[in-house]
Amino acid sequence: MSSKLNATGIVVKSPGRINLIGEHIDYNGGHVLPAAIDLKVTLKLCKTKNNRCSISSEDGGIFSFDIKQPLQISTTHWENYILGVVDGLQKKRPAQMGGFDCVITSELPIGAGISSSAALECGLAKGLNTLFDLELNDIELIEISRMAEHNFVGTKCGVMDQFAVTMGQKKKLILLNCESLEYQLIDAEFSPYKIVLLNSNVSHNLASSAYNTRRAECEQALKIIQQEHSNYSFLADVPETVIESLREKLPGKIHQRALYVSRENSRTLQAAVLIQKGKIQEFGELMYQTHLGLSKNYEVSCAELDFLVELTQNHPQVVGSRMMGGGFGGCTINLVKEDFVNSFTDLAQKQYQNKFGINLSPILVRTSNGVEIINN
Ligand code: GLA
Repeated sequence: MSSKLNATGIVVKSPGRINLIGEHIDYNGGHVLPAAIDLKVTLKLCKTKNNRCSISSEDGGIFSFDIKQPLQISTTHWENYILGVVDGLQKKRPAQMGGFDCVITSELPIGAGISSSAALECGLAKGLNTLFDLELNDIELIEISRMAEHNFVGTKCGVMDQFAVTMGQKKKLILLNCESLEYQLIDAEFSPYKIVLLNSNVSHNLASSAYNTRRAECEQALKIIQQEHSNYSFLADVPETVIESLREKLPGKIHQRALYVSRENSRTLQAAVLIQKGKIQEFGELMYQTHLGLSKNYEVSCAELDFLVELTQNHPQVVGSRMMGGGFGGCTINLVKEDFVNSFTDLAQKQYQNKFGINLSPILVRTSNGVEIINN
């Protein structure tokens, strides 16, 4: 990036993500199948002549800080996404970072499980990397963004969201091994089906604390398994047969979590093969199995999401449906026959409104490139 461009500022377009399958698997060292989408956060960034950083967002949120002073966790939730990333960059490249202005606008609904937070973190990380010529690579930026979430926001997330948002490619899914970060790009070809998200517009406040609890439960399961089988380093690698053989040693809920993780990792690998072979209906079946596992074994669904998945089962034109993302609200992801999309979203909206008195927001998404820097 030329210094001329840096002087005038840059515009960053940072996408949200979907995940076809492989939910709650990233922090268990398994495989996920996400893609970046064409709904984006836009950040306008330019340098200031001092150490002051001013951040403003379209909904009126505004704050500022001195980049050379130690950064503290804020009591205003969204500010921590920014502070965490800036703190990570500042620690890696203290001499190069300076003051900047940042204006944020977004097409991504918040709390919908399509990673508006990773879009913000990764867009800012990559944008500041360009603005200040930090020369950090994508993997370093992904890690800084993920640690912002751990250290400032307080969610002990895995790597999936930040990886998809940064590395996404148009018309591709990313089959990512979350441990090695090796990945394979797969054609996002679902014809004659379209990907339709149904945003439940609920976001139960359990989400962050329950997420960390699930992670701890998985760690507990792995520790117990390792007492008998020290060869397993990640829960996602443990076969179902091994988990079943240890049923007596794994407390009820811990056993259920482990079972879900092992099955979901296998489903993801199977799904990648099915999608590549064009066997979309068979893949759709796996999506339903995932939902059942997330709802019954992993217990991260909620009444609204279960209802939205169930209502698809009377319609053969919908071949797959499940909750997507961390859970307790947000979106379902559905594979819907192209000529049924409008009728489907209409009927889902009506039935959801009748049942819960809440407006449902359908979102048609396409895959897109990861974070892009645009000349101002
Ligand atoms: C959230 C987290 C991800 C991942 C998903 C569940 O989006 O940020 O790391 O664990 O939940 O698959």
